[in-house]
Order: sequence, then structure tokens, then C-alpha cells
Amino acid sequence: MKVTVVGAGNVGATCADVLAQREIANEIVLLDIKEGFAEGKALDIWQKAPINLYDSRTTGSTNDYSKTANSDVVVITSGLPRKPGMSRDDLIATNAGIVKTVTDNIIKHSPNAILIIVSNPLDVMTYCAYLNAKIDSSKVFGMAGILDTARYRAFLAEELNVSPKDIQAVLMGGHGDTMVPLPRYTTVSGIPVTELIDAEKLNEIIERTKFGGGEIVKLLGTSAWYAPGAAAAQMVEAVIRDQKRIFPVCAWLQGEYGMKDIYLGVPVVLGKNGIEKIIELQLNDDEKALLEESAKAVKSVMDVLDNMNVNA
Ligand code: NAI
Ligand code: 2OP
Repeated sequence: MKVTVVGAGNVGATCADVLAQREIANEIVLLDIKEGFAEGKALDIWQKAPINLYDSRTTGSTNDYSKTANSDVVVITSGLPRKPGMSRDDLIATNAGIVKTVTDNIIKHSPNAILIIVSNPLDVMTYCAYLNAKIDSSKVFGMAGILDTARYRAFLAEELNVSPKDIQAVLMGGHGDTMVPLPRYTTVSGIPVTELIDAEKLNEIIERTKFGGGEIVKLLGTSAWYAPGAAAAQMVEAVIRDQKRIFPVCAWLQGEYGMKDIYLGVPVVLGKNGIEKIIELQLNDDEKALLEESAKAVKSVMDVLDNMNVNA
């Protein structure tokens, strides 16, 4: 199986490293526009293979898309990351042009690929890729929910002093401050989380999760990459190994949750065909209201993209 990762920066290189380390694909191509950058990162990952014992062949390319031909899965991480004080939406002007160009080139060389978008603003960049790729929406989706849910799970594990492996949760909505963590669907080894933590503390964790990306930007001066890179690799693995995993994924809604023509984070089944099913939870009125508010925020940025005329 062949996987291309576009953008060899912090998230892209981390994703390629996880893919190689876990032998998720036997051929991994890293591509970047910066001369020699992807080649250098790919060589470094390949030279780690004899130490950490994996045989995924990792190569790099400076903007030569012929090297990406016939990829089964492509992860798009190219684009600017946030700096302190910026929202994800501030990135749209630059990143929409990048995502469009990259998508066009990728589809030309890998018309059957499944595309996983990571670039921000995530929900709208996924929409941008979908408009330009002109392939079925089951094959174009975005990574955010796994990361946001992982932050929520990590904070809960820390508070409860239990293993993060034992926290199951789902988080919906856009990848922004209006994301919707769902305590009703959060368990610790099957125990409802509300039996283990008081409401005030849980609420603090939910608020911290919503601003979890910004917390890291403040600390680092740029956005996170270890967890985002691993999250994108986990989605690639679910597709390549046809695992039928259930993850929150940014997906194209066509009536689900009463919404249409919008990319939004929802639980899905991921397998060899990409999104094989969108799962519709029985949300209560409060949860529905939060999801609708989040959808409104995403839609307003989708409108900005529609008015930019960058799409084919
Ligand atoms: P980075 O700056 O480290 O890497 C981005 C790379 O994209 C650079 O190496 C750059 O040369 C490359 N690039 C720019 N234009 C290109 C083009 N036309 N073709 C190929 N490569 C191109 O940034 P980082 O930290 O890796 O973040 C990448 C993107 O992912 C950002 O937009 C960031 O906001 C987003 N992100 C999204 C997350 C999510 O949950 N969806 C989580 C973390 C980051
Ligand atoms: C994050 O949540 C910036 O979207 C990126 O870390």
C-alpha cells in the first residue's frame, strides 16, 4: 500500500514517522514545496528503520507529484499553522489556495486515492478539497475529532488518575472553540464518567478541551504536531487495514443530524472505502443546540471560502 503525506512540516513529518514506525504502509512519500525539505525528513525517517526495526520505505519529493502516483491514501497537511493570537479561521486566505493546488495535483496522479485533510481551518479546508477533488465525499474527510477527543481523554485521565487507554469518548462539531464534547457518551472502562467526577470539574475539562489547540500555540508559538500527526496516522491505518474503527471525523453531511451540505465532525465507521457509515447519535435538545451552534460557525467560514473563488 502507498501513502503520500503532503507537507513535510511538523504535522506531516510526524504523521509519516508514525506510519513508518508502525508499518502501516510499505511505501510512504513525503512531499513539500520547500526545496530538499521532504527529501531530508524522509531520509531521516528511513535511517531510523534499522534502529527501530521497520521496513516501510520512506522517500521525499520537492513538489514532484509523479512520485505520489497511485497512492491509496493521501494526507494533506500543507499550509500555515497558527501563531499566538490567531484563530484557525485566520489561515483561510493562504491555506485555501494551497489546499486547492495540492488537491488538483494529487487527484491528477492518484484519482482513486482517499484524501485525509489536516490543514486549517480544518472543516473548511476539507470542504475545499472536496470541491476540487470531485470524488465521492466518502473519500474526502478531515482529521480533528480524534485529536480533540484525545485531548479530552488525556485531561480526564490526568484528573481521575487512570490510564488514558480506559477513557472512551466522542466529541462532535467543528474543529474550533464551538466543538461539542459529549459527557453523556464518555465512559471510563464502561463506567459513565459522571459517576466518577463532579460536574464542575468535568465542565472545566470540557472548556480546557475546547481551547486545547490554543493552549499549545501559546506555549510553543506554533500549533501542536505529535498528537495531530498520530491522529492522522490512526485514520490512515483504519483505511489501509480496513479496520472499521469508529472515530469522530469531519464528514460531508447530507441530511444526517438534520444538516445538509456541510462538513462537520461526527462519529463514522472508517474502513477501506473511507467513510463507510455516518453514525447518528440520539442527541438530547441541549446537545443538538450545541451542535447547531458549531455548525453555524463552520458554515460562516464555508461561506467565506465560497466567496473567494478559489474552487474549480
Ligand atoms: P508547518 O509549517 O510545520 O508545515 C507545513 C508545511 O507545508 C511546510 O513545510 C510548508 O513548506 C508546506 N507547504 C506549504 N505550501 C505547500 C504546497 N503548496 N505544497 C506542499 N507543501 C506546502 O505546519 P504544521 O504545524 O505541520 O501544520 C500544518 C497545517 O496543519 C496547518 O494548517 C495547521 O494549522 C494544521 N493543523 C491541523 C490540525 C487539526 O487538528 N486538523 C492539528 C495541527 C495542525
Ligand atoms: C490544533 O488543534 C492547531 O488545529 C490545531 O492543535
